[in-house]
Amino acid sequence: MSGHGDPIPMTACRAGPLTGTADVPGDKSISHRSLILGALAVGETRISGLLEGQDVLDTAAAMRAFGAEVTDHRGGNWSVHGVGVGGFAEPETVIDCGNSGTGVRLIMGAMATTPITATFTGDASLRGRPMGRITDPLALFGARAHGREGGRLPMTIVGARAPVPVRYTLPVASAQVKSAVLLAGLNAIGQTVVIEAEPTRDHTERMLRGFGAELEITDGDEGRVITLTGQPELRPQDIVVPRDPSSAAFAVCAALIVEGSDVLVPGIGLNPTRAGLFTTLQEMGADLVFENRREQGGEPVADLRARFSPDIQGIEVAPERAPSMIDEYPILSVVAAFANGRTVMRGICELRVKESDRIDAMARGLEANGVHIEEDEDTLIVHGMGAGGVPGGGRAATHLDHRIAMSFLCCGLAAQKPVSIDDAGPITTSFPIFEPLMAGLGAQLERRNA
Ligand code: S3P
Repeated sequence: MSGHGDPIPMTACRAGPLTGTADVPGDKSISHRSLILGALAVGETRISGLLEGQDVLDTAAAMRAFGAEVTDHRGGNWSVHGVGVGGFAEPETVIDCGNSGTGVRLIMGAMATTPITATFTGDASLRGRPMGRITDPLALFGARAHGREGGRLPMTIVGARAPVPVRYTLPVASAQVKSAVLLAGLNAIGQTVVIEAEPTRDHTERMLRGFGAELEITDGDEGRVITLTGQPELRPQDIVVPRDPSSAAFAVCAALIVEGSDVLVPGIGLNPTRAGLFTTLQEMGADLVFENRREQGGEPVADLRARFSPDIQGIEVAPERAPSMIDEYPILSVVAAFANGRTVMRGICELRVKESDRIDAMARGLEANGVHIEEDEDTLIVHGMGAGGVPGGGRAATHLDHRIAMSFLCCGLAAQKPVSIDDAGPITTSFPIFEPLMAGLGAQLERRNA
């Protein structure tokens, strides 16, 4: 939903070690896709472990508006009675995707090849984000988009009457764009081809196969070539959503920087297209142990143990790893502030068009807490101050961005003086139990300004 309540200022203070088990919620990317593909299948898809964050709840509401029957059976168990590929009804009201770029972009793709019209909006953050990257390929299918200046929401999509399949090379490494094109391709007769130079998260491809779509994936000179055969009959599935590695990242990174910590995060998704942060942290010398590796619902998972790591070293993060850790740069830059030496993060200009300009938000917030930063259009360099070395005492602006909010709260758990954020409200979009979960591990979080 677009409306955020009053801002919730929050302060994190250095306290004892973080210890115990962190049961983080379900994966956000997989949760969105479960609802959308469930709505495009014929019959009942059952989902357990769905993330009940606001972003996903907004997608559930949208699927209802397009005619699917979506039921909350409590405790993360949901069902979706789908309407079939091409079966979406025209929504009677505006679709409000709240804070979620993934929600709006995937849903636009899913409806763009059905002859219906839908108008989309979102909160102030989402209304500022570029949609041209989605509407350009959707136009090739025959869909039309009418939005605000610069391709911004609110925007109306008029679905194609006689959609033609497309061959599309992604101009940016974006799983949202790839997924929108594949979802649109479902209702176009013939073969839709998406080519990505750098591999991005592949949950859509995995799940499309699980629902019975014909999908061929090859690796060639151009990159990964994904060929989807249109108009499949999608078969409903039972989906177990793994826990979100992007949410786990906060508990894990906090454990690495808070003295004496030892935290276990069970059952987190470790799809290689998502796990770049953990590889990077290990290169920096973090004490991470993966146990009990297994497969769950077509995705690799493991239990991850993270312990306080006083000798973390700054590194040059491989730019080609960016797509596999794109949401984790904010929390990585916090860890980097507690490392010895500088951490250089290059090739990350996509961070400027996330829920906020994350390079700017992290740079300003870390500076306010006494950390020396260098930045340019697609680079962030953090000069580490060593374990316990970050002065803190500053206030960070979160700009309606959940990951900025959680990153600075984690920073405050290890900094010398408390760290405040102006608004913890956006955390509910992806990690509604962040506050009690972190408190349960021993974190000191208070709803106040420092
Ligand atoms: C997502 C893709 C990424 C990521 C976002 C979730 C997805 O966005 O930042 O949080 O579920 O497909 P981009 O596709 O814009 O890189």
